[in-house]
Amino acid sequence: MVDIKNILVLGAGLMGNGIAQVSLMAGYNVKLVDINDDLVDNGYAKIEQGMKKLETKGALGEGVTASEVLARLEKSTDLASAVKDSDMVIEAIIEKMDIKKQVCKTVMDNGPSHVIFASNTSTMSITEIGKDSGAPERVSGMHFFNPVALMKCIEVIKGESTSEEVFETTMQVAKSLPCLKGKRYIAPVLKDRPGFIVNRLNAPAQIYLGWVFDQAVEQNIPCERIDADSAGKTPMGMCELADYVGLDTMMHVSAYYKEQLSSDFEPSNVIKDMVAAGNLGAKTGKGFYDWSEGRDGIKAKVKAAEPSGLFNLENTMAILLNEGCRILEEGIVSGYKIIDDANMAGMNTPGPFGAGKNNFEKWSQLLEDLATKTGKEYLRPCELMKSGGFVSMRK
Ligand code: NAI
Repeated sequence: MVDIKNILVLGAGLMGNGIAQVSLMAGYNVKLVDINDDLVDNGYAKIEQGMKKLETKGALGEGVTASEVLARLEKSTDLASAVKDSDMVIEAIIEKMDIKKQVCKTVMDNGPSHVIFASNTSTMSITEIGKDSGAPERVSGMHFFNPVALMKCIEVIKGESTSEEVFETTMQVAKSLPCLKGKRYIAPVLKDRPGFIVNRLNAPAQIYLGWVFDQAVEQNIPCERIDADSAGKTPMGMCELADYVGLDTMMHVSAYYKEQLSSDFEPSNVIKDMVAAGNLGAKTGKGFYDWSEGRDGIKAKVKAAEPSGLFNLENTMAILLNEGCRILEEGIVSGYKIIDDANMAGMNTPGPFGAGKNNFEKWSQLLEDLATKTGKEYLRPCELMKSGGFVSMRK
């Protein structure tokens, strides 16, 4: 196992700041690196602010002050020299493959011969990031959830070339990083496949939702009636949630899975049209809903609406179980409990296997019908789901 004392966090944005914060709390010496002084200073200021808040709450440990912790934080804009004494780099820069590959190579060219490069990419292949770095065996994935300090899950990814020692060390470091909401949950991802575990599990529900959205427009059904279908069962209705996440983000995510998994992920016409018109949801004030009256206005509309019957929440549970079974079939995890636990730790919602054990036959039938009705073959149940074979597999 590589002894890790000095961590370099590359990228002082939303995720990098959170990763630097929990790394400091775990006792590591941390360097925060970005491309210019303003960005690094901004990141530093956010971490400082967070630490002071934690100090007043007594969350840094007895008698530990924010300034003591911050004494272990350095800033830099020069990766090649900053990495010289780093044991591990956790990369949280822009989601662009060529730039990730480039910084990975800089780390391997300039860092010590044991340095590990762990990427926080949400979508990119760890194998590809490390491929031309000169040391692909020292490249792994460490996928955090936002906000880093509050979400328990970290997925640790083994790329095709990642050595066992580097994978185990990445697991150990992930385990050592505190979470303010309880014990960390570390999910080992044994195969470098799109979306890893949690994002992959939740991705195909978008196929169904896209179909529901397009049907609603065709049948002139207003969005509050779709959201009334799941009122009281989910914190937000599906249209409200889409607005909240951002319709552009949803479209990009679907386009990614379309490229990686199946053409059935083609984004829905409704979403494409809204994005083209610049209506991206809550962040632009308009999407499915007009957000000028805030969430309370939306809630009131949904409460007053007649359910449309078009959206069935049970279908999404069935879709989740199907994708969970595909994750098992592909050997991405060693057992189904990991999928359920990772979903709870990463999304705060139960995974599909708990309920799926008793419902796989009914849900398989739901999916057969849904695939036929929507023409989306990806929704058809896989063998492992239909047979219920997962029930007798290792948990
Ligand atoms: P962000 O845009 O807030 O921060 C990215 C930072 O990286 C910026 O400060 C930018 O200046 C910096 N950067 C860009 N190129 C750089 C380079 N060559 N060297 C050093 N710094 C560079 O982005 P965010 O949201 O923090 O995402 C970062 C990574 O984390 C992405 O790969 C993203 O997919 C992943 N991620 C994001 C999650 C989220 O909820 N935002 C969740 C999980 C993963």
